[in-house]
Amino acid sequence: ISRSSFPKGFTFGTASAAFQFEGAVKEDGRGASIWDTFSHTFGKIIDFSNADVAVDQYHRFNEDVELMKDMGMDAYRFSISWTRIYPNATGQINQAGIDHYNNLINALLAKGIEPYVTLYHWDLPQALTDKYSGWLSPRIVNDFAAYAETCFQNFGDRVKHWIVINEPHTFTVQGYGTGLEAPGRCSLRLICSEGNSAVEPYIVAHHVILSYATVADIYKKKYKEQQGGSLGVSFDAVWYEPASNSTEDIEAAKRAQEFQLGWFLDPLMFGDYPSSMRSRVGRRLPKFSESETSLIKGSLDFVGINHYTSLYASDSSNNTVGVLLKSTLDDSGTVSLHGKAIGDRANSIWLYIVPEGMRSIMNYVKERYGNPPVYVTENGMDDPNSKFISLKDALKDEKRIKYHHDYLTNLLASIKEDGCNVKGYFIWALLDNWEWSAGYTSRFGLYFVDYRDNLNRYPKASVEWFKTFLSS
Ligand code: GCO
Repeated sequence: ISRSSFPKGFTFGTASAAFQFEGAVKEDGRGASIWDTFSHTFGKIIDFSNADVAVDQYHRFNEDVELMKDMGMDAYRFSISWTRIYPNATGQINQAGIDHYNNLINALLAKGIEPYVTLYHWDLPQALTDKYSGWLSPRIVNDFAAYAETCFQNFGDRVKHWIVINEPHTFTVQGYGTGLEAPGRCSLRLICSEGNSAVEPYIVAHHVILSYATVADIYKKKYKEQQGGSLGVSFDAVWYEPASNSTEDIEAAKRAQEFQLGWFLDPLMFGDYPSSMRSRVGRRLPKFSESETSLIKGSLDFVGINHYTSLYASDSSNNTVGVLLKSTLDDSGTVSLHGKAIGDRANSIWLYIVPEGMRSIMNYVKERYGNPPVYVTENGMDDPNSKFISLKDALKDEKRIKYHHDYLTNLLASIKEDGCNVKGYFIWALLDNWEWSAGYTSRFGLYFVDYRDNLNRYPKASVEWFKTFLSS
């Protein structure tokens, strides 16, 4: 398998996110985001680290662009930090922030690498949380749209692919359901002191959907004709396999999919949440007005899929975990972690290696949503960051090579044999980086970053593998 096995014009790239890569959090006028606050709150990050420096891509982007070029990558997916553009979320534009991203975009284009730009990769301005609780307020829609417009005006002459929002399901659930990610709000009954059944994740999700659609509408009316770009969202999409062939578990696997991918993709494609959500969440699930329905329906130019893993799903009616965790996951009436491993595991506890899941999720999107254009905007696996592994051994990532080989083989089959409309593939990630609440404990990079010696980058074996893959 190599580049030439894929359709002509298929895009290969790597992906990143500002907060996980940039560092330089206090430089050039950048304002604080909810992840600055969260990562500096004691006990939130497993290794007590923060991303103040991260892998310093803010200063080292030229070096990193060179690494991409050297591998033969076509594209780079990165995110813009809202608070570099608007330190206080709204109001005065910070020119130094605009300059930085102009420099990055121009450096990429000079090497023939196409920028794919994420507008929101979780680093919400702290100012908006202070002002009106961020995504919990409908006021976010206009503020986010104004920020997005500023990006279109400043970068849209060169940026043709916009991932407006990254993984809405993850930050909605982890940020407002389990509290494991910023801003750390918790809706789990019995566990969290706030003690409400899950309401906030549904409100947040609603505003996220309306924000995306508003931005897409603005782009269509004011920028599309001149700039000719396309807009999408990157969804975190797990493939759910029924844990047994009982009817209950088969139904549970369908619901798990609807409560994760369908929660966001159904409204943007069909104009409303899945009916399984309507019936199970009831009054806690907000309604779209008629004009909102027509705004959101059909508003995606492409579907971004971040796919890493598959999980078993089973019915949770008789499961104590399900009774304890009154989260959005519980509303779905499914559980997915019950000790039965679906595949070999990477380092992260949620990351099981199940290459066929890639083919299944591509086919699911094709069948349910009418074969829209899809980009795999993230796929990858992590190794532990262990001080007991020598640098030499850390560079031998045969497991990662096999992971990408097998996932790409399944992706190719979904295109060639099943007719899925897939346009590109982005590896998470070019470099090891700061993995949110897992801090620096997890290494997702093709390049090893030496956290103890000047953040030097060293190619793992997978770099060589991708070079060969891409050069053929
Ligand atoms: C995302 C992802 C990334 C993670 C990656 C590995 O939101 O796009 O969470 O930021 O680092 O998925 O967990």
